[in-house]
Amino acid sequence: MPKITFISPDASSRELEAEPGQSVMRASIVNSIGGIIGECGGQAMCATCHVYVEGVEGALPVLGDDEDEMLYCVASGREENSRLGCQLTAGDDFEEIVVRLPESQV
Ligand code: FES
Repeated sequence: MPKITFISPDASSRELEAEPGQSVMRASIVNSIGGIIGECGGQAMCATCHVYVEGVEGALPVLGDDEDEMLYCVASGREENSRLGCQLTAGDDFEEIVVRLPESQV
């Protein structure tokens, strides 16, 4: 099973196993991780699933135009490793991933 490690702004972390095909955003919500809202349901239209990718085993998809545009709207600062959690899919894009959560999503 693909693994996701979430690092909170206070540096605490939690690791979970994600269902194949589940996005980082969805895995966060169904496991009550907190720190990700996912207001648009994964349509790359809200930027409330912003994460910083700190490590990955896999091949993340190239940043799409829609995702790139939305990352200019994030509440916390965009960094080189910023991605939308709804666009990163367990099994398809990574086997293991470490994401840091931003201070705020809104
Ligand atoms: S859930 Fe809205 S952009 Fe990812």
